[in-house]
Parts: sequence; structure tokens; C-alpha cells
Amino acid sequence: MNRAAVLCGLGTALPPRTVANAELAGQLDTSDAWIRSRTGIGERRVVDPGTATSDLAVEAGERALKSAGATGSGGSGGADAVIVATTTPDRRCPATAPLVAARLGLGTAPAFDLAAVCTGFLYGLAAAAGLIAAGTAGRVLVVGADTFSTLLDPADRSTRAIFGDGAGAVVLRAGDPAEPGALGPLDLGSDGTGSELITVPSGGSRDPLPGPEHDPYFRMAGKAVFRSAVERMSGSARSVLDRTGWDAPDLLVAHQANLRILHAVADRLGIARDRCAVNIDRVGNTAAASLPLALADAAGSGSLRPGDRVLLTAFGGGLTWGACALAWPALEAL
Ligand code: UT7
Repeated sequence: MNRAAVLCGLGTALPPRTVANAELAGQLDTSDAWIRSRTGIGERRVVDPGTATSDLAVEAGERALKSAGATGSGGSGGADAVIVATTTPDRRCPATAPLVAARLGLGTAPAFDLAAVCTGFLYGLAAAAGLIAAGTAGRVLVVGADTFSTLLDPADRSTRAIFGDGAGAVVLRAGDPAEPGALGPLDLGSDGTGSELITVPSGGSRDPLPGPEHDPYFRMAGKAVFRSAVERMSGSARSVLDRTGWDAPDLLVAHQANLRILHAVADRLGIARDRCAVNIDRVGNTAAASLPLALADAAGSGSLRPGDRVLLTAFGGGLTWGACALAWPALEAL
């Protein structure tokens, strides 16, 4: 039998502290009006000192496992493999996923981190689907978790205006390709010739820290990234859409990078803007957490219902991008 990966649980975690645009405007040469009009962001969540990516990942993971257990989709709500997609691991070494697995009581389950920046969650879905298809795992927890606030230059208004912290997680189980929740066509891509456009210049083997000449902060060439994000997300989503046989999805859930990017992608695909999931106004760009947070927000608000045709797409550093389609399953996002 062809073992499909079926999404059966969804959980999220946001840090309690909200940072509104006005607070940033008090620290940087920016304004609420600029940030809202150029990005669609009104506020974002930011971790307090002492909270690490794994703390959010564990919280989201717990909720996803509980959500999967509550849907009665088989098993006790556990997982036998864990993938954590993140650009902000607790430490450069070791990976964050084994710690997350241990804190979730998942014993000696295989666990690894995945680095595809804002496309990390989609790459994680693909990796989990591969583990399931190969019979290596029956249930995989995929977490997208990032605390970009720990990586930003306090003086850089162009990145501080955009990024927020958060985590989202899903459980994928082995199942039938025809079931709601089964991952449908999937497309992934990368272009390393654009690796300088989204980068943390120092702190890796190319330019190890410490030293005053190093730059340990996240840097993004906004304009070039904007253009590439629109082109790659719409191209990838189009190739998936063509393979589904759908005229259009009921909901486009695109990486929440910038409201203008979301609208441009929807326009290029011929999808009405009101069929675009939007939570960027409240959470900003949460990198690897972006897609599961947007899915949970849409499910919670009733704009995503069981049976709805969902088109996911993301773009991020690397450069990386991807898209995936699925029919939304009956589950309670926690
Ligand atoms: O998650 C991975 C993918 N990430 C993305 O897709 C993000 C893509 N890029 C963007 O969303 C946008 O390019 C930004 C929001 C980062 C910037 O918006 P923009 O409309 O492309 O502005 P820009 O970079 O062309 O900058 C226009 C001006 C500049 O000033 P000058 O050089 O014209 O004097 C910037 O310094 O806006 C300035 N600027 C700001 N002004 C006030 C940049 N950030 C801010 C700010 N407040 N926060």
C-alpha cells in the first residue's frame, strides 16, 4: 500500500509579551504607519530573556500531540520521530530536536533539526512524509519554531519591524492517500546563488565568532527578497495546484512574510485575496512557525473547515521555497 502522511494534530505556542509597532517606534526611526502600510504588521510576540526556541517548541509539540490524541486518529498521541525546523536553535551544538523529544517524553525517538529558514516547516513535512513512506516512522511530530528576536540587530529597523517569535507543530501519521489530511502534491526548491540575500554573516565555520569585526546578526536584502518571494511562492504553488486538479483552493496559506507579498502571490495565482489566510497583523513574520500558526489561526476563526482544499506555500533563506496541497482534516487545533 502507498503510505501517505496524514496530518492529524496541530498545536501552537506564542510568547505572552506583545510588542506593538508603537513600542518599536519609541526605540527606532520608524512608525506605526510605515510598518502597517509596508508590511501589514500591527504587533508581534517576543520572548522574554531566558526563553529559548525549545521552550516554545515543547509547548507547541505538547498541544499538537494532544490535538492528535483528541481526534482519535489512532495511537496514544505519541510520535516515533521528531523534526524541529528552526534557524534559532538553542545552541549551535547539539540540535534542539533531541531535547524537545526528551522533554515531550518521547523516549529515544529519532530527532533532528532541519535548516531551511522560513521554508523549514514545509521541508519538515516532506522529510516526515519520506520517513513515513519508507516505514521508518509511523507518527512524526514536525515543529516549526523560531525566536528571531534573539538574532536581530537591535538597531536594524528593517528586520525588527518584521520578525516575531513563535512555534507551531503538527503530527503526521501513516494513512491512506485519499483521507482528509493526507499530504497531496508537494514541490520544493532551492537556489544557493541567493544565499547572501538572507544571512547571518558570522558565527559559522566561514567566519567564526568572537571578535569585533564579525556580524552576528540576521541580515536581509529586503527588496530583492520581496521580488524573489513573490516569484518563487507563486511558481511553486502553481505547479502544485496544476497537479491537484483543483480550479482553486478554498484557502491559500502562504508564509506570512509581508501582506503585500501575500496579496501579490494570490493575485498571480488568480486566487481572491479574501481566500488568503492572514495573521501577520498580529504575529509578524515568525519564520519556520509561520505556516502552522496561520493554519491554527484560520482553523480557530472558522475560515478553515474540514474538507476545505488548502494550498500551502513558503519561501525563505537559502534561498528555499516550496508548496503542498491537502484537504483539511477534522481536528481541533490547540
Ligand atoms: O521570511 C523570509 C522572507 N522575507 C521576506 O519576504 C521579506 C521581504 N521584504 C520585505 O518585506 C520588504 O522589502 C521590507 C518590509 C523589508 C522593506 O520594505 P520595502 O518597501 O521593500 O522598503 P525598502 O527596503 O525599499 O526601503 C524603503 C525605505 C528605505 O529608506 P531610503 O533608503 O529610501 O531612505 C528604508 O531604509 O524604507 C526604509 N525603511 C524603513 N522606514 C521606516 C526600512 N525599514 C523601515 C522601517 N521604518 N521599519
